[in-house]
Amino acid sequence: MSAKIIDGKALAATVRGKVADHVTRLTADHGITPGLAVVLVGEDPASQVYVRSKGKQTIEAGMKSVEHKLDADTSEADLLAVVAELNADPTIHGILVQLPLPKHLNEDLVINAIDPAKDVDGFHISNVGLLATGQKSMVPCTPLGCLMMLREHHGSLSGLNAVVIGRSNIVGKPMAQLLLGDSCTVTIAHSRTKDLPEVVRRADIVVAAVGRPEMVPGDWIAPGATVIDVGINRIERDGKNRLVGDVDFESAAAVAGAITPVPGGVGPMTIACLLANTLTACCRSNGLPEPEGLTA
Ligand code: GUN
Repeated sequence: MSAKIIDGKALAATVRGKVADHVTRLTADHGITPGLAVVLVGEDPASQVYVRSKGKQTIEAGMKSVEHKLDADTSEADLLAVVAELNADPTIHGILVQLPLPKHLNEDLVINAIDPAKDVDGFHISNVGLLATGQKSMVPCTPLGCLMMLREHHGSLSGLNAVVIGRSNIVGKPMAQLLLGDSCTVTIAHSRTKDLPEVVRRADIVVAAVGRPEMVPGDWIAPGATVIDVGINRIERDGKNRLVGDVDFESAAAVAGAITPVPGGVGPMTIACLLANTLTACCRSNGLPEPEGLTA
């Protein structure tokens, strides 16, 4: 292996430390404590794990954490009533409705019912529009975490060729916007892209966010390129359950200049950025300066 490992776990700890320091000052100087509300509908096991982890880390950062756990058969009207209550609550600065929602609920409708200023996921249509037009917005946590890792490794990203594999609203599209914002030349590739290996070979930066285990082999990666692996896929190998990314780590690490591992890469950055976004939302709503280095 020749690639430098980009340690998301360590960078996430640094981000959480910065958030906690800022929260301490906010509380001491202004008597304000940022509050994050997470809404979970149903009992999806993976979502339950994420939500527990978010709550724990929110409290560790000195913030208020509120969880609303609703039954899987909760009506849309009841869910919207919870969102409206949180929108009106002055002690809550960030609202996250855990996705995916049960099939009978309209995700777009629910997300767009969140006050955009409290939309710490950055999924509300007005935050999507603000990001696309280069205006101040709430930025989706996973792409923000990827951007922080890329800036940490490269310093300036200006002029680099970036290929984002995956076109989801949660990762691919906002990731492309953020890279454009940092003056990369950006290609969004996806399952229908012609000559995908050739497209990826042109990249100085590869962000893989397709949700297919080890889909990107090392021979697609240009020597020295930086690889950010967003995938978190559970597979069984040699009779054991394993977590793997969308990139074949071993072969990619042999040619890349730098690569994020799975686990320990993008994953920890996502929750750290959620805390950062909650703090940012709190500062904005109180007309206070935003924390430095924690936003796009
Ligand atoms: N489910 C998986 N990732 C996410 C995320 O970033 N935000 C929300 N709300 N749900 C998710």
